Amino acid sequence: MRSSDLASILAEERKIFPDPWPKSAFEDHLEQADWGGLVALSDGKIAGYACWMVVADEGHLTNIAVSEAHRRKSVARHLLEAILVVTRDKSCEFILLEVRPSNEGAIAFYRKHGFDLLYRRPSYYHNPVEDALVMVKYFD
Ligand SMILES: CC(C)(COP(=O)(O)OP(=O)(O)OC[C@H]1O[C@@H](n2cnc3c(N)ncnc32)[C@H](O)[C@@H]1OP(=O)(O)O)[C@@H](O)C(=O)NCCC(=O)NCCS
Repeated sequence: MRSSDLASILAEERKIFPDPWPKSAFEDHLEQADWGGLVALSDGKIAGYACWMVVADEGHLTNIAVSEAHRRKSVARHLLEAILVVTRDKSCEFILLEVRPSNEGAIAFYRKHGFDLLYRRPSYYHNPVEDALVMVKYFD
C-alpha cells in the first residue's frame, strides 16, 4: 500500500463499511514503524486491501476488505496469508482481530483460517453500535 493508493482505497472503504476509516488511519499505517498495508490488484486496479500492526509480540489485523466484484476468489486469503508471514517474521506469537458479531461472512472467513473467539468487547463499534468479537490465531 502506498499513499498514491489511498484515494481508491478510501472510495472502496466508504462503499464497504458503515463506519469507514478516515484517511489518517491509513496514513498512520504507512508511516509508523511496524505497521503496514497491502493491496491486491486486478488489471492494475485495487481489488482488496489489508492493514496490520505489531505491538510487542502481538500481531493485529486492523483492516481487510475486498471489493464486492472480487469476493469469493481468494483475494482476502492471499492478503491474510501475506500478513501472517509479515507478523510471524516480526516474532509475533499470535495475531488478533476484531469483528462485528453480525458480520457472519467475515467470521466464517476467519474461522476457516484458524482464528478462534477470544472474548467479546462490549459496544466497541459505533455507527451502528455493536460489540466486537476479538479473535486470535496462534502461530505454531
Ligand atoms: C470478509 C471478506 C474480506 C472475505 O473476502 P474474500 O476475498 O471474499 O474471501 P476469500 O475468497 O479469500 O475466502 C472465501 C471463503 O471465506 C468464507 N467466506 C467469505 N465470505 C463469506 C460469506 N459471505 N459467507 C460465508 N462464508 C464466507 C468462506 O469460507 C469462503 O470460502 P468459499 O467461497 O469456498 O465458501 C469480504 O467478504 C469483505 O471484504 N467483506 C466486507 C468487509 C469486511 O467485512 N471485512 C472484515 C471486517 S472485520
